[in-house]
Amino acid sequence: MKIFETISSTQDHIQSLTDKHLRIGFVPTMGALHEGHLSLVRRALRENDHVVVSIFVNPVQFNNPDDLKNYPRDLTADVQLLEPLLKDDDIIFVPSVAEMYPKPETHQYDFGSLATVMEGRFRPGHFNGVGIVVNKLFRIVKPHAAYFGEKDFQQLAIIHRLIVIEQLPVQIVPCEIVREYDGLAMSSRNVRLTPEHRSFAPMIYQAITHAAANIDLETPEELKMIIVKTLNRIGLLEVEYVEFADETTLQPVIAWNESDHIRCFIAVQAGDVRLIDNVPCPKQLSL
Ligand code: PAF
Repeated sequence: MKIFETISSTQDHIQSLTDKHLRIGFVPTMGALHEGHLSLVRRALRENDHVVVSIFVNPVQFNNPDDLKNYPRDLTADVQLLEPLLKDDDIIFVPSVAEMYPKPETHQYDFGSLATVMEGRFRPGHFNGVGIVVNKLFRIVKPHAAYFGEKDFQQLAIIHRLIVIEQLPVQIVPCEIVREYDGLAMSSRNVRLTPEHRSFAPMIYQAITHAAANIDLETPEELKMIIVKTLNRIGLLEVEYVEFADETTLQPVIAWNESDHIRCFIAVQAGDVRLIDNVPCPKQLSL
């Protein structure tokens, strides 16, 4: 495996592979890798000839300076995790901020209503920053396919929109959420949970799966209130938002018959750490 810090060395190596008509899979990450990322890398390896993994903590997608400062970084551990998976010609691309942003970024995307709900509402500017970096990375790597986890479900919708706006010929591959043994969605941020917050964090998944299984019994509004009460009652978790929304438009539903594909989305503050999760709701049987 090769580790490159510059855009030009990365592009030269990828060009040598695509000259041989080899298929490139891409896994963009912000490092602090865990089993969720590794499952994306394994899938990319199965479905392509070579894989590029980028590790870059993208400053322009952080709306909260403390979150950027505290975001876990451990390149040595990341490389150790990737080494057994990647082959000779696979690439880890680890650019610096100066390499990615030689001048300040001012581009503004219009992702429409996809970016004004849920994460977009609570993290202003976040999706614009994601759009900027993913567009840059796609133009550097020129992958045939790119792999993203469904934990960031709204991000996936934004990236689908981005490739239409930017007319990029990349196949976007959504991959299922990988969970810890107790249901907590894997996240780089989990390592920052205190033992106490970690022990209660699986209740987030329990609360939303329980709600999703009970959509025959209550309205979306009632189930949202039950989730908020259940989690806030613990005293260690604070629900930022919980929403039942259409999987494609991401717009909240107020009645179950408004959409055939509804998901329950949640963001919770667990001490200093912000956690997000989502689960699909089964189709309502009585409709
Ligand atoms: O999901 C992430 O880790 C990041 O948002 C991404 C897609 C790597 C862009 O920085």
